Amino acid sequence: MLEDINGRKMKALDVFACCIEYIKNKVFKRAEEAVRGLTEEQVHWMITVPAIWNESARQFIIAAATKAGINPELLTLVLEPEAAAVFCKYVEIQRSVIENEANLEVFQPGSQFVIVDLGGGTVDITCNEVIETGQLREIYHASGGPWGGNMINLRIWKLIRSIIDNASFDAYMEENTYSKLSLLKEIEEEKMKIKPNEQAAFKLPSYLSNTKIKYKGAEIIKDKIHINPDVISKVFEYATEQVCNHLSKVLSRDETQNVKALLLVGGYASCEMLKETIKQKFNKYDIICPFIPEMIVLKGAVIMGHESRPIIGRLARFHYGLSVPNGLRIIQKKETTHLHTEFYNELNFLPLISKGTPIRIGEEVAQYSFIVTSEELTDVQIGILICEDDKAPSSIAENSCTKIGQIEAKIPALSKLTEITIIISCDETEFKVTAVIDELGHRFSTRCSFLH
Ligand SMILES: Nc1ncnc2c1ncn2[C@@H]1O[C@H](COP(=O)(O)OP(=O)(O)OP(=O)(O)O)[C@@H](O)[C@H]1O
Ligand SMILES: [Mg+2]
Repeated sequence: MLEDINGRKMKALDVFACCIEYIKNKVFKRAEEAVRGLTEEQVHWMITVPAIWNESARQFIIAAATKAGINPELLTLVLEPEAAAVFCKYVEIQRSVIENEANLEVFQPGSQFVIVDLGGGTVDITCNEVIETGQLREIYHASGGPWGGNMINLRIWKLIRSIIDNASFDAYMEENTYSKLSLLKEIEEEKMKIKPNEQAAFKLPSYLSNTKIKYKGAEIIKDKIHINPDVISKVFEYATEQVCNHLSKVLSRDETQNVKALLLVGGYASCEMLKETIKQKFNKYDIICPFIPEMIVLKGAVIMGHESRPIIGRLARFHYGLSVPNGLRIIQKKETTHLHTEFYNELNFLPLISKGTPIRIGEEVAQYSFIVTSEELTDVQIGILICEDDKAPSSIAENSCTKIGQIEAKIPALSKLTEITIIISCDETEFKVTAVIDELGHRFSTRCSFLH
């Protein structure tokens, strides 16, 4: 449930569906003007999601898009850093051939680069390598953090609040929603203009601009509060430090030692204060900042919609495993790991894919075959589990396991020696699970309901 400003509740799914529907209709209408006779079936939709989102969040977006009238068959979810990588590699580089030849090396086969997606909410860092075919492969994925551009807004809000006087500021904002919204908007707009070593100014609601303030480094002149460079730069310092620390950590890892370039994308990459700091601290890297960085992910997603498989693989974000009921016995597994079938019972976490394993898109990643050994077993339920910890769990009873889906099959009473084969393959953004019950020739395919 989401709450509006007056505390009224609405289902998040409805809110997201409304937003998607609104954008979809706008885009379709505009496309129709350009392409005569365009029909809904001719459009494939790409929705971008942060790489750090979990499976259920992705499933949620699919549900919302479906509700918004998008046929899920005509929908692809794209991971944002991948879209950014694709755009930078395929398009931006064409321009740099003309402008600056040095940049081109960044995208030669074998070279590695880091993408820093600086958004409003989060900062997401991933490291990619260009392979022989020119496609991209993820070599390291670092989960991001909540240090995006909104953090600056929040800190400016708090600064103005403390300059004016916390209690009266809060009381005023509580009463005057319109003023509150205008100040939020003012902060968003004005912060974009702030440059290193320059003053910042924000227009205040008229009531507040009459306040007499005693604060070193700030002054109210007419309807604006002017904040001195040293005070305002403190606001940026903390937030940029978080980003730089995280980036340093990523760049000091073994996996990233061949990285030559950093690509800064996302709206927050336009922030001069942040860009300057990154350029200074990471001056041994080639720092690439495309024009209009907030459009990179979107444009990359569009290119991905046209390209077949520009990304060949990524690393598994979690350990994936199965929970299998008693009465099923494993008879074979492809790519055997150290699995002690004799000790296997209902509570075991039967590993499918280990966290960090490279996964090739479109390929089968694991396969198990089971045989039904118990007379009682007529309803087979195989759970699909994930675990976020670095070490794989041995038992599903461990708290770290989350069930993300389930495969269900009914076994007719007579065919007890039925063999069930579970095949897991990796799609663009999700895992597809297929269960084949050989004797019956039945095939169940599912994308699992990650919502449950
Ligand atoms: N010139 C600028 N200076 C500072 N911040 C900026 C500038 N231009 C855009 N931003 C900030 O960039 C952020 C928006 O970036 P972007 O559009 O990439 O975010 P998003 O993709 O919606 O967010 P997320 O990736 O976290 O979901 C906002 O916080 C905005 O204030
Ligand atoms: Mg973003």
